[in-house]
Amino acid sequence: MDCGATATAETAVSICPICGGLYEVDLELGPLDRGVFDRNATGDKFFSGVWRYQVMLPRLPEDAIVSRAEGRTPIYWDERIAAYAGVRLLGLKHEGQNPTASFKDRGMTVGVSHARAVGAKIVACASTGNTSASLASYAAAGGMQGLVIIPEGKIAGGKLAQTIAMGARIVQIDGDFDIALALLRQLTDKYPVYLVNSVNPFRIEGQKTIVIEMLEQLGWEIPDVIALPGGNLGNTAAFGKALADLHATGLIDRLPRLMTIQAEGAAPFADYFDSGFDRYEAVKAETIATAIKIGDPASMQRARRAIQLSDGHVARVSDDEILAAKSWIDRVGIGCEPASAASLAGVKKLVAAGEIDPEAKVVGVLTGQLLKDADAVIGYHLGALGGPDRPNINRPVTIEPTLAALERTLADALSG
Ligand code: F0G
Repeated sequence: MDCGATATAETAVSICPICGGLYEVDLELGPLDRGVFDRNATGDKFFSGVWRYQVMLPRLPEDAIVSRAEGRTPIYWDERIAAYAGVRLLGLKHEGQNPTASFKDRGMTVGVSHARAVGAKIVACASTGNTSASLASYAAAGGMQGLVIIPEGKIAGGKLAQTIAMGARIVQIDGDFDIALALLRQLTDKYPVYLVNSVNPFRIEGQKTIVIEMLEQLGWEIPDVIALPGGNLGNTAAFGKALADLHATGLIDRLPRLMTIQAEGAAPFADYFDSGFDRYEAVKAETIATAIKIGDPASMQRARRAIQLSDGHVARVSDDEILAAKSWIDRVGIGCEPASAASLAGVKKLVAAGEIDPEAKVVGVLTGQLLKDADAVIGYHLGALGGPDRPNINRPVTIEPTLAALERTLADALSG
């Protein structure tokens, strides 16, 4: 994408050997009709909410495809959530309802299938946790060895447990995600290890289906805004590519505004945006939302294009704002992990700032499931995480096992 070099897809093509930049898959898409996505197709592969959109994905040999019926995630519309954000219509598309409980599975099925198509034996990633869990699952399903490099002690428990259980080789380092990714890139330069971080263009292709599926669910009525959390910025890049591809096929004739929300302590992209995309500086990342604790995002430039293309916006929210928004998403029965709640916290902030019209129709993306990070829930409700006015605190109480004690405890509930 930087130097103009091209490559065919018969080999692993994660990073350009000439300039070190990123590749983009060129599908040479012609006009498509909405009827092309057959909702009633029920074959194994087409049950997948990724491979159902195969005409907008790279063509891979059928026998290479590793799919675990990913995608087909719901959009939840809850008036309490819309009221919290201060907007008329707010849907939450829950990508935590994928096989390994995060959006990563959508890109992973395409990345790992390409790895299999080119005969890779080892598939590897650096991760803040979700990519490693997804990789572990798809590598196991596809009969390959998974290898992950993670920052020691900085991965949420649910994600680490998934990765351990599903048999990926795990290497922990005393360093952050950015160092882990740099280290892995050195390894994959030297050895035939297939890199599936979102610098891999095939991962991006799979993640496009979040937007394609969302717009199809909305009856192709384009929302005003799509909000999503941003870390390494692969997803922002994928959303931009999805919109560009959909526009090129004629499936949509205007674009929603993409709004990427970062955690305040890990917001190099928001800083870059604020400078009019003039000055970029990596940061040392710090946030409770460990999934997006990334200081030097690998997909920065393609994410910039996505924001520019869609007249989008980039904002930052504090950890307290993330946890308060999460407590509402949890409290209405939807649930998500902390990083996901940056979407809602960001929409609320941008409505207050006048950047989003209160009459707008907004879809926020929830990227991971609640159980991924149980410690964050316990820390918020029973510990000291969160701001001074933590909403929705719900503390379990312990009583003597007698009816009298139970009645005393429940007096308020029973009398109402
Ligand atoms: N939300 C969750 C739950 C994530 O796990 C991630 C990224 C993001 C948002 C940000 O997406 O990187 O495409 O901007 N997690 C990666 C990982 C980095 O290793 O699991 P992004």
